[in-house]
Amino acid sequence: MPSHIPVLATEVAELLQLKPGDVVVDATLGAGGHSSAILEKISPKGTLVGIDKDEDAIRIASNNLSSFKPQSQLATVVGSYTALDSIFSTATKSWRCGKPDGILFDLGLSSLQLGGNRGFSFLEDAPLDMRFGEAEDLTAEIIINSYPVDKLADILWQFGEERDSRKIAKAIFEARRKERITTTNELVDIVTKAKGGRKGRINPATLTFQALRIAVNDELSAIMSALPIAIELLKPGGRLAVISYHSLEDRIVKNIFRDAAKNEIVKLVTKKPTRPSFVETKNNPRSRSAKLRVIEKI
Ligand SMILES: C[S@@+](CC[C@H](N)C(=O)[O-])C[C@H]1O[C@@H](n2cnc3c(N)ncnc32)[C@H](O)[C@@H]1O
Repeated sequence: MPSHIPVLATEVAELLQLKPGDVVVDATLGAGGHSSAILEKISPKGTLVGIDKDEDAIRIASNNLSSFKPQSQLATVVGSYTALDSIFSTATKSWRCGKPDGILFDLGLSSLQLGGNRGFSFLEDAPLDMRFGEAEDLTAEIIINSYPVDKLADILWQFGEERDSRKIAKAIFEARRKERITTTNELVDIVTKAKGGRKGRINPATLTFQALRIAVNDELSAIMSALPIAIELLKPGGRLAVISYHSLEDRIVKNIFRDAAKNEIVKLVTKKPTRPSFVETKNNPRSRSAKLRVIEKI
Protein backbone atom coordinates (compact mmCIF):
# COMPACT_ATOMS: atom_id res chain seq x y z
CA MET A 1 0.00 0.00 0.00
CA PRO A 2 1.50 3.43 -0.90
CA SER A 3 2.34 5.76 1.98
CA HIS A 4 0.63 9.14 2.05
CA ILE A 5 2.85 12.21 1.57
CA PRO A 6 1.17 15.30 3.06
CA VAL A 7 0.56 18.07 0.51
CA LEU A 8 1.80 21.66 1.12
CA ALA A 9 2.78 20.58 4.66
CA THR A 10 5.39 23.32 5.20
CA GLU A 11 3.04 26.01 3.87
CA VAL A 12 0.16 24.80 6.09
CA ALA A 13 2.29 24.77 9.23
CA GLU A 14 3.66 28.27 8.42
CA LEU A 15 0.36 29.88 7.40
CA LEU A 16 -1.41 28.56 10.50
CA GLN A 17 1.26 30.49 12.48
CA LEU A 18 1.40 27.85 15.18
CA LYS A 19 3.44 28.01 18.37
CA PRO A 20 4.04 25.73 21.38
CA GLY A 21 0.91 25.29 23.47
CA ASP A 22 -1.56 25.97 20.62
CA VAL A 23 -4.81 24.06 20.11
CA VAL A 24 -5.46 22.59 16.65
CA VAL A 25 -8.14 20.49 14.93
CA ASP A 26 -7.07 18.37 11.98
CA ALA A 27 -10.50 17.72 10.47
CA THR A 28 -9.14 15.18 7.94
CA LEU A 29 -6.49 13.29 9.87
CA GLY A 30 -5.68 10.63 7.23
CA ALA A 31 -2.36 9.00 8.07
CA GLY A 32 -1.46 11.99 10.24
CA GLY A 33 1.12 13.54 7.91
CA HIS A 34 -0.06 17.13 8.44
CA SER A 35 -0.74 16.48 12.10
CA SER A 36 2.83 15.36 12.59
CA ALA A 37 4.12 18.67 11.15
CA ILE A 38 1.57 20.55 13.27
CA LEU A 39 2.56 18.70 16.48
CA GLU A 40 6.21 19.62 15.81
CA LYS A 41 5.11 23.27 16.03
CA ILE A 42 2.65 23.10 18.94
CA SER A 43 4.63 20.77 21.24
CA PRO A 44 5.29 20.88 24.09
CA LYS A 45 1.91 21.43 25.76
CA GLY A 46 -0.03 21.58 22.51
CA THR A 47 -3.47 20.07 21.94
CA LEU A 48 -4.46 18.28 18.74
CA VAL A 49 -7.83 16.75 17.91
CA GLY A 50 -7.69 14.64 14.75
CA ILE A 51 -10.90 13.53 13.03
CA ASP A 52 -11.47 11.07 10.21
CA LYS A 53 -14.41 9.02 8.97
CA ASP A 54 -12.05 6.17 8.18
CA GLU A 55 -11.30 3.81 11.08
CA ASP A 56 -8.18 2.47 9.36
CA ALA A 57 -6.81 6.01 9.00
CA ILE A 58 -7.46 6.73 12.68
CA ARG A 59 -5.62 3.55 13.68
CA ILE A 60 -2.62 4.33 11.43
CA ALA A 61 -2.46 8.00 12.48
CA SER A 62 -2.74 7.18 16.20
CA ASN A 63 0.23 4.88 15.78
CA ASN A 64 2.22 7.40 13.68
CA LEU A 65 1.64 10.23 16.17
CA SER A 66 2.10 8.32 19.43
CA SER A 67 5.61 9.71 20.02
CA PHE A 68 4.10 13.20 20.56
CA LYS A 69 1.81 12.01 23.36
CA PRO A 70 4.12 12.63 26.30
CA GLN A 71 4.57 16.31 25.34
CA SER A 72 1.14 17.17 23.94
CA GLN A 73 -2.54 16.27 24.39
CA LEU A 74 -3.74 14.20 21.47
CA ALA A 75 -7.19 12.83 20.65
CA THR A 76 -8.00 10.89 17.46
CA VAL A 77 -11.69 10.44 16.75
CA VAL A 78 -13.65 8.40 14.19
CA GLY A 79 -16.38 10.73 12.93
CA SER A 80 -17.38 13.28 10.32
CA TYR A 81 -16.00 16.80 10.26
CA THR A 82 -19.60 17.96 9.87
CA ALA A 83 -19.78 17.33 13.65
CA LEU A 84 -16.49 19.15 14.25
CA ASP A 85 -17.78 21.32 17.08
CA SER A 86 -19.31 18.54 19.18
CA ILE A 87 -16.36 16.19 18.52
CA PHE A 88 -13.97 18.95 19.63
CA SER A 89 -15.86 19.78 22.83
CA THR A 90 -16.27 16.11 23.82
CA ALA A 91 -12.60 15.29 23.10
CA THR A 92 -11.25 18.25 25.06
CA LYS A 93 -13.81 18.32 27.90
CA SER A 94 -11.34 17.36 30.60
CA TRP A 95 -8.48 19.42 29.17
CA ARG A 96 -9.87 22.97 29.56
CA CYS A 97 -7.84 24.10 26.57
CA GLY A 98 -10.05 26.83 25.08
CA LYS A 99 -11.08 27.17 21.44
CA PRO A 100 -8.82 26.18 18.53
CA ASP A 101 -6.00 28.43 17.28
CA GLY A 102 -5.95 26.50 14.01
CA ILE A 103 -8.15 24.16 11.98
CA LEU A 104 -7.09 22.23 8.89
CA PHE A 105 -9.14 20.52 6.18
CA ASP A 106 -7.16 18.50 3.61
CA LEU A 107 -10.05 17.45 1.38
CA GLY A 108 -10.63 14.34 -0.70
CA LEU A 109 -9.05 10.97 -0.19
CA SER A 110 -5.63 9.74 0.90
CA SER A 111 -3.17 7.55 -0.96
CA LEU A 112 -3.89 4.86 1.65
CA GLN A 113 -7.53 4.81 0.52
CA LEU A 114 -6.63 4.99 -3.18
CA GLY A 115 -4.46 1.89 -2.88
CA GLY A 116 -6.68 0.11 -0.38
CA ASN A 117 -8.89 -2.21 -2.45
CA ARG A 118 -11.92 -0.07 -1.63
CA GLY A 119 -12.98 0.79 -5.15
CA PHE A 120 -11.56 4.34 -5.29
CA SER A 121 -9.05 3.58 -8.03
CA PHE A 122 -9.72 2.74 -11.68
CA LEU A 123 -6.28 1.14 -11.78
CA GLU A 124 -7.09 -1.74 -9.42
CA ASP A 125 -9.88 -4.28 -9.62
CA ALA A 126 -11.95 -4.05 -6.45
CA PRO A 127 -15.57 -4.08 -5.27
CA LEU A 128 -17.41 -0.84 -6.10
CA ASP A 129 -17.47 0.57 -2.58
CA MET A 130 -15.86 4.08 -2.36
CA ARG A 131 -17.03 4.87 1.19
CA PHE A 132 -14.65 6.89 3.36
CA GLY A 133 -16.14 5.28 6.44
CA GLU A 134 -17.90 1.99 7.01
CA ALA A 135 -20.60 3.67 9.07
CA GLU A 136 -22.25 4.87 5.84
CA ASP A 137 -24.72 2.64 3.97
CA LEU A 138 -24.52 4.07 0.44
CA THR A 139 -21.88 2.50 -1.85
CA ALA A 140 -20.90 3.11 -5.48
CA GLU A 141 -22.37 -0.31 -6.30
CA ILE A 142 -25.79 0.78 -5.03
CA ILE A 143 -25.68 4.01 -7.06
CA ILE A 144 -24.49 2.24 -10.24
CA ASN A 145 -27.08 -0.54 -10.05
CA SER A 146 -30.17 1.22 -8.72
CA TYR A 147 -30.23 4.94 -9.56
CA PRO A 148 -32.46 6.00 -12.48
CA VAL A 149 -30.50 6.78 -15.62
CA ASP A 150 -31.19 10.56 -15.38
CA LYS A 151 -29.99 10.73 -11.79
CA LEU A 152 -26.84 8.82 -12.75
CA ALA A 153 -26.18 11.26 -15.59
CA ASP A 154 -26.71 14.23 -13.25
CA ILE A 155 -24.18 12.84 -10.77
CA LEU A 156 -21.57 12.38 -13.51
CA TRP A 157 -22.21 15.89 -14.83
CA GLN A 158 -22.47 17.76 -11.51
CA PHE A 159 -19.69 16.01 -9.57
CA GLY A 160 -17.39 15.03 -12.44
CA GLU A 161 -18.16 17.70 -15.05
CA GLU A 162 -18.11 14.67 -17.39
CA ARG A 163 -19.19 15.81 -20.87
CA ASP A 164 -20.31 12.32 -21.87
CA SER A 165 -22.45 11.94 -18.74
CA ARG A 166 -25.62 10.91 -20.61
CA LYS A 167 -23.82 8.47 -22.88
CA ILE A 168 -22.09 6.82 -19.91
CA ALA A 169 -25.28 6.68 -17.80
CA LYS A 170 -27.09 4.98 -20.68
CA ALA A 171 -24.26 2.47 -21.13
CA ILE A 172 -24.35 1.67 -17.38
CA PHE A 173 -28.12 1.21 -17.58
CA GLU A 174 -27.81 -1.19 -20.56
CA ALA A 175 -25.02 -3.18 -18.89
CA ARG A 176 -26.80 -3.60 -15.56
CA ARG A 177 -29.94 -4.89 -17.29
CA LYS A 178 -27.87 -7.93 -18.30
CA GLU A 179 -25.93 -8.39 -15.08
CA ARG A 180 -25.28 -6.50 -11.81
CA ILE A 181 -22.11 -4.36 -12.05
CA THR A 182 -19.99 -5.11 -8.99
CA THR A 183 -16.33 -4.31 -9.71
CA THR A 184 -14.21 -1.33 -10.74
CA ASN A 185 -12.86 -3.19 -13.79
CA GLU A 186 -16.41 -3.79 -15.07
CA LEU A 187 -17.21 -0.11 -14.66
CA VAL A 188 -13.97 1.02 -16.34
CA ASP A 189 -14.78 -1.21 -19.36
CA ILE A 190 -18.31 0.17 -19.68
CA VAL A 191 -17.15 3.81 -19.41
CA THR A 192 -14.21 3.32 -21.78
CA LYS A 193 -16.47 1.79 -24.45
CA ALA A 194 -19.13 4.50 -23.96
CA LYS A 195 -16.46 7.17 -24.50
CA GLY A 196 -15.25 5.52 -27.69
CA GLY A 197 -12.10 3.89 -26.30
CA ARG A 198 -8.94 5.18 -24.68
CA LYS A 199 -7.46 8.21 -26.48
CA GLY A 200 -4.99 10.24 -24.46
CA ARG A 201 -2.89 9.82 -21.37
CA ILE A 202 -5.85 10.28 -19.01
CA ASN A 203 -7.97 7.24 -18.16
CA PRO A 204 -11.48 7.71 -19.63
CA ALA A 205 -13.03 6.66 -16.29
CA THR A 206 -11.25 9.40 -14.26
CA LEU A 207 -14.20 11.82 -14.01
CA THR A 208 -16.75 9.02 -13.51
CA PHE A 209 -14.77 7.75 -10.50
CA GLN A 210 -14.41 11.28 -9.07
CA ALA A 211 -18.16 11.89 -9.46
CA LEU A 212 -19.16 8.60 -7.82
CA ARG A 213 -16.81 9.13 -4.88
CA ILE A 214 -18.23 12.61 -4.27
CA ALA A 215 -21.80 11.28 -4.48
CA VAL A 216 -21.19 8.26 -2.22
CA ASN A 217 -19.68 10.44 0.50
CA ASP A 218 -21.88 13.50 -0.10
CA GLU A 219 -18.63 15.43 -0.09
CA LEU A 220 -19.69 18.84 -1.37
CA SER A 221 -22.58 19.19 1.10
CA ALA A 222 -20.24 18.09 3.90
CA ILE A 223 -17.74 20.85 3.03
CA MET A 224 -20.53 23.44 2.72
CA SER A 225 -21.89 22.65 6.16
CA ALA A 226 -18.54 22.12 7.93
CA LEU A 227 -16.67 25.31 6.96
CA PRO A 228 -19.10 27.73 8.69
CA ILE A 229 -18.98 25.48 11.78
CA ALA A 230 -15.17 25.63 11.72
CA ILE A 231 -15.19 29.44 11.42
CA GLU A 232 -17.61 29.69 14.35
CA LEU A 233 -15.46 27.36 16.48
CA LEU A 234 -12.15 29.18 15.93
CA LYS A 235 -10.95 31.60 18.57
CA PRO A 236 -10.52 35.24 17.44
CA GLY A 237 -7.14 35.46 15.70
CA GLY A 238 -7.29 31.72 14.95
CA ARG A 239 -6.70 30.48 11.41
CA LEU A 240 -8.51 28.04 9.12
CA ALA A 241 -6.63 26.35 6.26
CA VAL A 242 -8.29 24.31 3.50
CA ILE A 243 -6.55 22.30 0.78
CA SER A 244 -8.77 21.39 -2.17
CA TYR A 245 -8.00 19.23 -5.19
CA HIS A 246 -10.55 20.15 -7.85
CA SER A 247 -12.53 23.17 -8.96
CA LEU A 248 -15.84 22.02 -7.42
CA GLU A 249 -14.28 21.94 -3.95
CA ASP A 250 -12.22 25.09 -4.43
CA ARG A 251 -15.25 27.10 -5.62
CA ILE A 252 -17.12 26.26 -2.39
CA VAL A 253 -14.13 27.17 -0.21
CA LYS A 254 -13.51 30.43 -2.12
CA ASN A 255 -17.16 31.53 -1.87
CA ILE A 256 -17.54 30.72 1.83
CA PHE A 257 -14.27 32.54 2.64
CA ARG A 258 -15.21 35.54 0.47
CA ASP A 259 -18.64 35.89 2.10
CA ALA A 260 -17.20 35.57 5.62
CA ALA A 261 -14.62 38.26 4.74
CA LYS A 262 -17.35 40.55 3.33
CA ASN A 263 -19.26 40.14 6.59
CA GLU A 264 -16.07 41.02 8.50
CA ILE A 265 -16.06 37.72 10.38
CA VAL A 266 -12.66 36.79 8.93
CA LYS A 267 -9.86 38.32 6.89
CA LEU A 268 -8.29 36.56 3.92
CA VAL A 269 -4.71 35.48 4.64
CA THR A 270 -4.22 34.09 1.11
CA LYS A 271 -5.75 36.46 -1.46
CA LYS A 272 -4.92 33.90 -4.16
CA PRO A 273 -4.58 30.19 -3.34
CA THR A 274 -1.11 28.88 -2.48
CA ARG A 275 0.04 26.19 -4.93
CA PRO A 276 2.72 23.52 -4.50
CA SER A 277 6.21 24.23 -5.80
CA PHE A 278 7.55 22.60 -8.95
CA VAL A 279 9.72 20.35 -6.79
CA GLU A 280 6.75 19.21 -4.69
CA THR A 281 4.66 18.35 -7.77
CA LYS A 282 7.59 16.34 -9.17
CA ASN A 283 8.07 14.42 -5.92
CA ASN A 284 4.35 13.99 -5.21
CA PRO A 285 2.17 14.03 -8.36
CA ARG A 286 -0.96 13.94 -6.17
CA SER A 287 -0.15 17.53 -5.13
CA ARG A 288 -0.41 18.86 -8.71
CA SER A 289 -3.98 20.14 -8.44
CA ALA A 290 -3.79 21.27 -4.79
CA LYS A 291 -4.91 24.76 -3.75
CA LEU A 292 -4.47 26.04 -0.21
CA ARG A 293 -6.66 28.88 1.10
CA VAL A 294 -6.29 30.36 4.58
CA ILE A 295 -8.40 32.83 6.59
CA GLU A 296 -8.04 34.41 10.02
CA LYS A 297 -10.98 34.96 12.36
CA ILE A 298 -11.45 38.57 13.41
C1 LIG B 1 -6.38 13.91 1.77
S1 LIG B 1 -6.74 12.86 3.09
C2 LIG B 1 -5.94 13.60 4.46
C3 LIG B 1 -4.49 13.26 4.56
C4 LIG B 1 -3.81 13.85 5.78
N1 LIG B 1 -3.81 15.29 5.74
C5 LIG B 1 -2.38 13.33 5.92
O1 LIG B 1 -1.45 14.14 5.86
O2 LIG B 1 -2.18 12.13 6.08
C6 LIG B 1 -8.41 13.21 3.43
C7 LIG B 1 -9.01 12.42 4.58
O3 LIG B 1 -10.27 13.01 4.89
C8 LIG B 1 -11.15 12.00 5.29
N2 LIG B 1 -12.51 12.51 5.16
C9 LIG B 1 -13.22 12.75 4.04
N3 LIG B 1 -14.45 13.23 4.33
C10 LIG B 1 -14.52 13.30 5.68
C11 LIG B 1 -15.52 13.75 6.60
N4 LIG B 1 -16.72 14.21 6.20
N5 LIG B 1 -15.23 13.71 7.91
C12 LIG B 1 -14.02 13.27 8.36
N6 LIG B 1 -13.05 12.82 7.53
C13 LIG B 1 -13.28 12.86 6.21
C14 LIG B 1 -10.82 10.83 4.39
O4 LIG B 1 -11.23 9.62 4.98
C15 LIG B 1 -9.28 10.96 4.26
O5 LIG B 1 -8.63 10.14 5.19
